[in-house]
Amino acid sequence: MRPTTESGLAVRAHHLSRRFGDFTAVDSLDLDVEAGEIFGFLGANGAGKTTAIRMLCGLLAPSAGEAWVDGLPISTHGEAVKRRIGYMSQRFGLYDDLRVGENLEFYGGIYGLDSAAIKARRGELLERLDLSQALDRPTGSLPLGYKQRLALGVALLHRPPILFLDEPTGGVDPVARRAFWDLIYEVAAEGTTVFVTTHYMDEAEYCGRVSIMVAGRIQALGTPASLKAEHGARDMQDLFLKVVGT
Ligand SMILES: Nc1ncnc2c1ncn2[C@@H]1O[C@H](COP(=O)(O)OP(=O)(O)OP(=O)(O)O)[C@@H](O)[C@H]1O
Ligand SMILES: [Mg+2]
Repeated sequence: MRPTTESGLAVRAHHLSRRFGDFTAVDSLDLDVEAGEIFGFLGANGAGKTTAIRMLCGLLAPSAGEAWVDGLPISTHGEAVKRRIGYMSQRFGLYDDLRVGENLEFYGGIYGLDSAAIKARRGELLERLDLSQALDRPTGSLPLGYKQRLALGVALLHRPPILFLDEPTGGVDPVARRAFWDLIYEVAAEGTTVFVTTHYMDEAEYCGRVSIMVAGRIQALGTPASLKAEHGARDMQDLFLKVVGT
């Protein structure tokens, strides 16, 4: 039994806040994300996106407010939340000195999969992420685009219903970014909720809805088309500049 009535919502934040000393990084965030959405969590450097995601993933305690992930309150169900989410952190978090296959095995163990399940899932993901050729390569030797696909694979190992991707395509070339978004679409088509941050406005356009965060607060929220119309913006880049200001 779910302890709340937030069913149908993948993510709900209510007055979610985080302070560091006197500084408020996330300021009373209110947000609902429906199950199955591709939600773009946008904002300038330092707006508070990673801080908010770390709270939603149960990795950082809020200073105030509450959030529910897959219906579970993060304040009391942090461990259960971690089992229901996949998290691709902004900083590459895999072991460079392990081979590609070993990283998947290692994290499969952390997620509590047994060895038969890990083997099956590893094969499936390598194929899907076009990494089969790289199975025995040391992770540290891979091009960034491969590393990011592997990090996505690790986040998907335990088939989480919700994926948090924090700048998953930062620094990779446009072709690799397009390929990565094809994967995001595939995963979303299976019903997975995707909560993704990006600084690339072409990617923002691929999202069903986006929010734009400024100094810890959400300043704009809606579909790319509705937000462009509302702000009289030519494109997402123009919208971003109008909302964030210069
Ligand atoms: N542990 C911390 N201690 C103090 N300040 C922090 C800490 N973590 C984050 N901050 C500050 O909180 C603010 C928000 O940081 P955060 O990393 O959430 O921004 P972001 O929107 O993810 O930015 P970027 O687009 O650069 O990744 C920044 O000013 C950052 O310096
Ligand atoms: Mg960040």
